[in-house]
Amino acid sequence: MFETLKPLPPDAILGIMTLFRADPHAGKIDLSVGVYQDEHGRTPVLASVKRAEQAMLAKQESKTYVAIAGNAAFNKGVEEILYGKDHAALKAGRISTVQTPGGSGGLSVAGHLIGRARPGAKVYVSDPTWPNHQPLLKVSGLQLDTYPYYDYAQHRVDFEPMLARLDKASAGELVLIHGCCHNPCGADLSREQWQALTQLCERRGLVPFIDIAYQGLAEGLEEDAYGVRLMAEKLPEVVVVTSCSKNLGLYRERVGAASVVSASTDAAKLAAANLANVARGIYSMPPDHGAAIVGQILGDAGLRAQWMEELAEMRSRLNGLRKLLVDKLAARNTRMDFSFIAKERGMFSFLGITKEQVIRLREEFHVYMVESSRINIAGINHGNVDRVADSIAAVLK
Ligand code: LMR
Repeated sequence: MFETLKPLPPDAILGIMTLFRADPHAGKIDLSVGVYQDEHGRTPVLASVKRAEQAMLAKQESKTYVAIAGNAAFNKGVEEILYGKDHAALKAGRISTVQTPGGSGGLSVAGHLIGRARPGAKVYVSDPTWPNHQPLLKVSGLQLDTYPYYDYAQHRVDFEPMLARLDKASAGELVLIHGCCHNPCGADLSREQWQALTQLCERRGLVPFIDIAYQGLAEGLEEDAYGVRLMAEKLPEVVVVTSCSKNLGLYRERVGAASVVSASTDAAKLAAANLANVARGIYSMPPDHGAAIVGQILGDAGLRAQWMEELAEMRSRLNGLRKLLVDKLAARNTRMDFSFIAKERGMFSFLGITKEQVIRLREEFHVYMVESSRINIAGINHGNVDRVADSIAAVLK
């Protein structure tokens, strides 16, 4: 039967990672997959994670299953990070959260839950969005559509067209919104824009579906949750998916969560039972290790403070590199104004160059990025930034 399967193009992001790994050139530079790198191009295990892992392993007495919904301390800690511990919806018992295998697992579980509650529901995703959003949600049986999000000429959120499109959506449809650090464009909603979008969702009866995979990497852990907290306060129903891959560097441990705000405590109980049942039907039980580490960090004031410092260091390094790259490009008189990169946030920005120029960067200069010209800012360091800027200037000549 398998000969009937269709051949597939390489994954838009992971395909570039494969090409990078296969390139024998010593000076190759990886600005592709969204993985944090330090000044030495390494992705180290956070010190807070190492300590938590040791403490966790020392006290672990069994490898038996935890629970379908995962680690309860983790789920509670995640809810507090997302909503703030005094959030009215949390206090009212209107929030249900399950631990999931990464943010992608969370999107899948949330997608299936939505499909159960509203079969064939339509989800509007931003144009552009993370290339895995659409395929992942289609598997959950949802219908996908898009709303304009990024103005490529002005390098900013295309807010009026976005609102105009969503104003035509029907009640009960969902809007997938990046909570912060938009992937791929790096342009985030301002607080005023979050407020306007919340009002629109209220007026049109739309349900926000917020993917917040980079919380803490834009302005701060609390600051980055502004949109999630506002929508969970003003609207009866919100779906939130989060990940610990980036802000805790737990990529390969696959730890994230799907969290649902329901209109009533009774509906929240139904959501909790169905979230667990959906997970049971896909992978049965979540992995323990990553969530146990996060539970340990969040439950220990010292570890938590250490993690907050490490997160602040990652964030300020990213924001500093944005400015450095802009300065280096400006010094090369490329005729393009790259100052927008310093205003964007998180790991990504579009350079705004053509696909042909991206391919030349890869093939002639060994600088790798996604073909949309999305760069991972964290792949830049003081040792390679001049080469990055020289290469970009060369393909722009
Ligand atoms: C990315 O966008 O590069 C990351 O989220 C990794 C991935 O899975 O695509």
